[in-house]
Amino acid sequence: MIITVIGSGYVGLVSGTCFADFGHEVICVDKAEDKIEKLKNGEIPIYEPGLEELVASNVKAGRLSFTTELAEPVCKADVVFIAVGTPSRRGDGHADLSYVYAAAEEIASSLDGFTVVVTKSTVPVGTGDEVERIIRQTNPDADFEVVSNPEFLREGAAISDFKRPDRIVVGLSSERAKAVMTEVYRPLYLNHSPLLFTSRRTSELIKYAGNAFLAMKITFINEIADLSEAVGANVQDVARGIGLDNRIGSKFLNAGPGYGGSCFPKDTLALVKTAQDNSSPVRLIETTCSINDQRKRSMSKKVAAAVGGEVRGKKIAVLGLTFKPNTDDMRDSPALSIVQALQDKGADIHAYDPEGMEAAVELMDDVTFGSNAYEIAKDAHALVIVTEWDAFRVLDFGRLKEEMASPVLVDLRNIYGKDEVEKHGFSYTCIGRPD
Ligand code: UGA
Repeated sequence: MIITVIGSGYVGLVSGTCFADFGHEVICVDKAEDKIEKLKNGEIPIYEPGLEELVASNVKAGRLSFTTELAEPVCKADVVFIAVGTPSRRGDGHADLSYVYAAAEEIASSLDGFTVVVTKSTVPVGTGDEVERIIRQTNPDADFEVVSNPEFLREGAAISDFKRPDRIVVGLSSERAKAVMTEVYRPLYLNHSPLLFTSRRTSELIKYAGNAFLAMKITFINEIADLSEAVGANVQDVARGIGLDNRIGSKFLNAGPGYGGSCFPKDTLALVKTAQDNSSPVRLIETTCSINDQRKRSMSKKVAAAVGGEVRGKKIAVLGLTFKPNTDDMRDSPALSIVQALQDKGADIHAYDPEGMEAAVELMDDVTFGSNAYEIAKDAHALVIVTEWDAFRVLDFGRLKEEMASPVLVDLRNIYGKDEVEKHGFSYTCIGRPD
């Protein structure tokens, strides 16, 4: 199969590389010349474990290439994936589909022979219909079908998620397109990953419903964490106790400072908008969005309580800035809201993240960045773990105690136990646990 992927961002680059690794010939297209230049030189514009090696081996094997020119790769492709961004539209929270529609228009005139055009970007229900209309209008003679094939990979675990998915969802209507998509995913299909064929609109909704459910699950356990604190229960044991029920499942029940990232916040909001537009409100998701927004800022109260009620004039060291570990992505990271709330209360913020500093410098004002945990902890009144990077699981508390003005640890990811921290003379605050 010859596969052309439009958009070499997170989803486009990972999917394209993995398709090449399946043995397909893949051409990744992106308008950003600097990005394509970097990729041609073997430089990966994002931090994703294992991606650099996988790109290199597939380029070397002649199955993966990069270009800014779209016409030729589209002309020879059996399948064209649209994997451009769908950020929140400024002002109203709807998904901004301008990049998707621009891609549809651009590919239309280059289509040659039967081509399956796949929306892999996260797009609201009905987008496939509009992509089809745009292509038909631009090139009435084109022989094509627009298919929906949402992506479920997580940043930081993208390659294994792509290669070992729980399921592959494909929304289409013809047997011709079905045969092509079965061939595209053949290695996974043979590996027993279920391939679920649905209507295009259903497939588009599955993506949003899945992300919204996960966001709701996290928000649920976060509220149970607050309740656990109020009644003296342990939220991790509650999560385990309910998660062992197969109907509930144990994943995505880690209480924390609220979810962030480039997907959950924008996708939940877009689903709310789609539902409102269709007079069928999704009130659980509306509530999830507002609880999560409040939660992130409210973490500053926990920090204040840990340092005696007042952070004004105090130095607070923040460990971890990305929205989760193993990524350099700062988009909608809880750290942004937490730091802002602490600054609003007059705190002096010093921060460190293993991979997110470049983006953090752009996004955060009046923060002093350090190059490791011990440097930022110097003279700090509290050390706050916001992102659970592995490197933060083995802190040297003896050394930290010597550096800090007061030995206070606020662990917003529950990666330590009270006893192991307190035995070093620290006070310890976590989420939803008495110990
Ligand atoms: C999410 C979904 O998990 C993927 O299936 C989906 O493909 C992707 O969005 C997308 O739509 O592209 P991702 O945003 O990379 O993936 O990250 P997650 O691992 O889902 O984490 C999202 C946020 O939830 C993070 O801030 C994380 O810290 C938080 N989280 C996650 C919790 O607070 N508790 C948990 O138990 C799990």
